[in-house]
Amino acid sequence: MNIRDSQSNVSNKISWNDNYVVGIKKIDDQHKELLSMTNDLFEACTTGVDVAEDSFKNTIRMMVSHSKEIFSHEEELFELTAYADVAAHKAQHRDFMINILEHQKKFQSGVRYVPNSLARFLMEWISSHVAVDDKKFGIYYAEKIDEMKITPQQTQKLLMGVKKFRQLAFSMLLTHLKEIYGKNSSEETVHKCVEVINAFLIKNRKVMAADYVIIKSL
Ligand SMILES: [Fe+2]
Repeated sequence: MNIRDSQSNVSNKISWNDNYVVGIKKIDDQHKELLSMTNDLFEACTTGVDVAEDSFKNTIRMMVSHSKEIFSHEEELFELTAYADVAAHKAQHRDFMINILEHQKKFQSGVRYVPNSLARFLMEWISSHVAVDDKKFGIYYAEKIDEMKITPQQTQKLLMGVKKFRQLAFSMLLTHLKEIYGKNSSEETVHKCVEVINAFLIKNRKVMAADYVIIKSL
């Protein structure tokens, strides 16, 4: 199958509408960009093989960095608001990245219908994950920050504060670890320790709550 053969499968471009609104400005802006990239790819698929392949390469490159940015921001907000449905949601993010990389691999191996297939996959992602799962989180988030008595702007400041606090905590912990293990400890050992600490911080809601209390008191 080539792009021309599969053109009948290319749906119309999608327009931004209320179904996709999560209610968190930064995330909505990122999703709008995602939708725009998807539409550009749709457009390119109807133009011709060379244009579609160029557009595909650009979309894949942007999609990898853009998705990482969207997902990490969403996941930070999950932590901050102690969202319960984290595992299933994160699994969807992981599957998305795997799918994108598979498209890239297929393309590199010369499978020509991939650009069209990627456009349809992205459209499906927007109408399922964004419109359902992200929207569900958006509703929870709005209720939660209301309960925490903070504004969306304060939430962003809080996130930055938590990051700085963690960086400081990491550097203090690393200093202690170096003292414990001595100067000869390998980078790998230190890296492993950081991973363990990070996993602990992420999983431990009490630490998250402590971050919150400390940051609020600054
Ligand atoms: Fe998400």
